[in-house]
Amino acid sequence: MNVLECVEELALRFDQAELFYGHGTDNPWDEAVYLVFTTLGIAFNSGEDDSDLKSIERRALSTAESEEIAALADRRIRERLPMAYLLKQAWFAGLPFYVDERVLVPRSPIAELILQQYQPLLPQVPARVLDLCTGSGCIGIATALVFPHAQVDLADISTDALEVAVHNIRQHGLEGRVTALQSDLFGSLDGVYDLIVSNPPYVSAEEVAELPPEYQQEPDLGLLSGDDGLAIPLRILREAPKYLTEQGVLVLELGYSWELLAQRYPGLPVAWLEFESGGDGVLAISREELIRAVW
Ligand SMILES: C[S@@+](CC[C@H](N)C(=O)[O-])C[C@H]1O[C@@H](n2cnc3c(N)ncnc32)[C@H](O)[C@@H]1O
Repeated sequence: MNVLECVEELALRFDQAELFYGHGTDNPWDEAVYLVFTTLGIAFNSGEDDSDLKSIERRALSTAESEEIAALADRRIRERLPMAYLLKQAWFAGLPFYVDERVLVPRSPIAELILQQYQPLLPQVPARVLDLCTGSGCIGIATALVFPHAQVDLADISTDALEVAVHNIRQHGLEGRVTALQSDLFGSLDGVYDLIVSNPPYVSAEEVAELPPEYQQEPDLGLLSGDDGLAIPLRILREAPKYLTEQGVLVLELGYSWELLAQRYPGLPVAWLEFESGGDGVLAISREELIRAVW
């Protein structure tokens, strides 16, 4: 069997199994490509020119490679595990991150903002950045790479998640500049930050119970935020001014809970960001606006 035949066969199987996507891909074909390319160590941009693509498609699989891929595909179908957990790798902002069941699979639209160096939100290049509720560390680490002089703290309440974040700090060679800290939100943090960026839990208890099986495999701690999803985002909005520099900015993801926040607190002068590659529910607000707001 060659690469193309293998991808075609898997895409068909995934389609028939009615899997749920959303952890890096959104259809059976891309999911099959993700599995086959990652297992064979083929770079995702290596098929950019036509002759490259043809030679990748025709590359024959050894028996061992076919068996490894088939075993992972079986688990994907049987256990409904996100592919990223099976491959122990997810891509975020064009970078590879180690992931496993201790952390949410990275997928925040904030990636796009990072690649634009948070423009036009920041008045200057940030010297100190906090990634609050960091999980795998993907947001803080990608931010550290676009701001090569910034000191970045990655905070999470879960020691399990922080072990993954530390793995990723090392993988990206950022030990001197990026620090993983255990903290219940701001509870154990010191000093002020020019930028606080956070993709915290924002799913309500009712919605968590209704999530498709693939999402149920992610840690509850990464999703659940009180009865209505707003408990943790509201704590962040209330406490953030104390931890921001005078010109500091908070970037906070609320996903589909954004409508509830906007309805309930119309006096909060937030900017809801738009993303070319999709996704919504991410707000930006400066310390000054947060302090002045009556909400
Ligand atoms: C939605 S996940 C996001 C992970 C990562 N930022 C990302 O975008 O992939 C939320 C993370 O918040 C952490 N968390 C939950 N409650 C927290 C709290 N009170 N203080 C700090 N972190 C918390 C969870 O352990 C989880 O890793």
